[in-house]
Amino acid sequence: MAHSLKTTPLHPKFGVAVHGVDLREVTASHLYPDIRALFEEHSALLFTGQDLDPDSHTRLAELFGPLENRSAMSQGRDVAFEVSPVSNETDDGVAAADSLHVLNLQGNMLWHTDSTFLPLPALVNILTARVVPSSGGATELASTRIGWAEMPDDMRARLKDAIIWHRLSNSRAEISAELANLPAMTRWPDRPWRAIWPNPVNGRDSLLIASHSFAVEGMGHDEGRRLIAEAIAFCTRPENVYSHQWQVGDVLIWDERATLHRGRPWPYEEARTLMSICSSVRDSDGLAAVRIV
Ligand SMILES: [Fe+2]
Repeated sequence: MAHSLKTTPLHPKFGVAVHGVDLREVTASHLYPDIRALFEEHSALLFTGQDLDPDSHTRLAELFGPLENRSAMSQGRDVAFEVSPVSNETDDGVAAADSLHVLNLQGNMLWHTDSTFLPLPALVNILTARVVPSSGGATELASTRIGWAEMPDDMRARLKDAIIWHRLSNSRAEISAELANLPAMTRWPDRPWRAIWPNPVNGRDSLLIASHSFAVEGMGHDEGRRLIAEAIAFCTRPENVYSHQWQVGDVLIWDERATLHRGRPWPYEEARTLMSICSSVRDSDGLAAVRIV
């Protein structure tokens, strides 16, 4: 493939660290085409030692696709876009370990793909570390392209033409009923997507599945949930997981179409702040292949 950037593997099967790039300098014509080619090929990209201020972070995300405005989505009204903190720091200090705020962060510790419950799925999450704890707090990634390629034939046969239903409150209910019932968690109608997402650049299939997945079209409740759990467990076998221990200035970018991810716990009396922007898919990202109507 055509790219000129120096890379080293993150995991033997997927992901690369990209060297010698200052992400503040990326524009549509400068570096982005090379970064995008690596993104399509490797599904996860790490850039270390970055100083990605909110404006640069936003400009970079806009190159990938339309920004997800999470404040507007959770509040259900039009508010200005801001980069979203993934953090236990609040205006009142570090949130208590048993607070709804931290419980919601724990919802991100189930294997998931962002935004499968939205009208438009996410293409990418661009995360950067601002404050890291003394231990823990890793972000882990697994490739559902690799998972799909390695999957036993009987599981593949059940998923190949499947339609999977997604609901945000499904994942939150695993953590806390109170959390799952908040208006921000129940705002969106259940959303179906085809399970297999062919990459439009290289034709390789991946599995679109998440902790938000709660049913498989045409299967009984238990059978569908069992298949979802089996598929996620298969894709996230420990040997297929890349675990990223954050350093301040790291920027991790992943392809939501082709990966699962989860956060890991840390000592909650310590602050941990990542800044995140998701961009939505465009038609050119292969959306038609997973869309039902
Ligand atoms: Fe996430």
